[in-house]
Amino acid sequence: MVKTVRFDGEHLIILDQSKLPGEISFETCRTVEDVAEAIIRLKVRGAPLIGVTASYGLALGMIKYEGSEQERDNYFQVIKNILASTRPTAVNLFWALQRMEDVYKQSTNLSNPELGQLLMAEAEQMFTDDIRINEAIGEYGQELLHKGSRVMTICNAGALATCGYGTALGVIRSAFKRGKIEQVWACETRPVLQGSRLTVWELLQDRIPVTLITDSMAGYTMKLGKVDAVITGADRIAANGDTANKIGTYTLAVLARQHNIPFYVAAPLSTIDREIATGDLIPIEERQAEEVRQIFGINATVPEVSVFNPAFDITPHELIDGIITERGIIKPPYLNQL
Ligand code: MRU
Repeated sequence: MVKTVRFDGEHLIILDQSKLPGEISFETCRTVEDVAEAIIRLKVRGAPLIGVTASYGLALGMIKYEGSEQERDNYFQVIKNILASTRPTAVNLFWALQRMEDVYKQSTNLSNPELGQLLMAEAEQMFTDDIRINEAIGEYGQELLHKGSRVMTICNAGALATCGYGTALGVIRSAFKRGKIEQVWACETRPVLQGSRLTVWELLQDRIPVTLITDSMAGYTMKLGKVDAVITGADRIAANGDTANKIGTYTLAVLARQHNIPFYVAAPLSTIDREIATGDLIPIEERQAEEVRQIFGINATVPEVSVFNPAFDITPHELIDGIITERGIIKPPYLNQL
């Protein structure tokens, strides 16, 4: 699997996911603004990867900083704010930037170049940690699946959404290695098609059997008895277990309950936002209307129609049968355990 993000000693090199699966192309980010733009335009996406990429962006900005040490604190806050304002829902972004700020604040006695290097080392550490965390999530999560499992997922919570291996797809990968996966159902995930463009591409690279359905086919597929579990990623989990994830996740959870199919969320602990009591308080990103009006730049409707385009929805905790983390599986009730 190709690396989603890396520092080449001078610039940040990102895999441009907006071009997949047609083109495997890499973009060079030279400035903090380039990194922010890449996140906004979904060239890098997925909660854990957004956090790590923003951390690299912050380190990149500080490595290139040539101003006075008096002005440095101010500059740090300015570029941190640029990165923090890219996407509102995935809490991993704010978690990662805070971790970088903690390192920054403990090291203000260093010279500009030393500080830049230290922050870059922290971003690299986050990258390595993320893969290890995903492998642990995969290990725990696979225990929930039996031989011959047919698992439905939405969006892309895989190696592409992280630094490698993935969360929901990490569970599927670990289960596949043990011969437990008969079939993955990938929901296409309109409007941006992370399921059909990214999840399908990623699973086929690993020769994991995957079948693509449109989002509206999920209920009937369940009704036919072809789904044993639903596993999704998460962008933010409130203290009570309510979970924000890609639009359509809530629909899958309701359908899963109706058909007595277990519904699991796989996410690192950095996705849990203990400051937020319930899902109602999670900010939901609304994206441009063109994503819905068009498909691959071609009009799919009357161009002037009004559009509602929330990028995420909230699945209430009552519909979640387990939250798979790197420290184990949390089963309901979530409130005090999270
Ligand atoms: O808009 P995206 O593509 O960033 O949305 C991604 C998701 O919703 C993922 O399921 C979530 O971030 C978890 S990724 C491990």
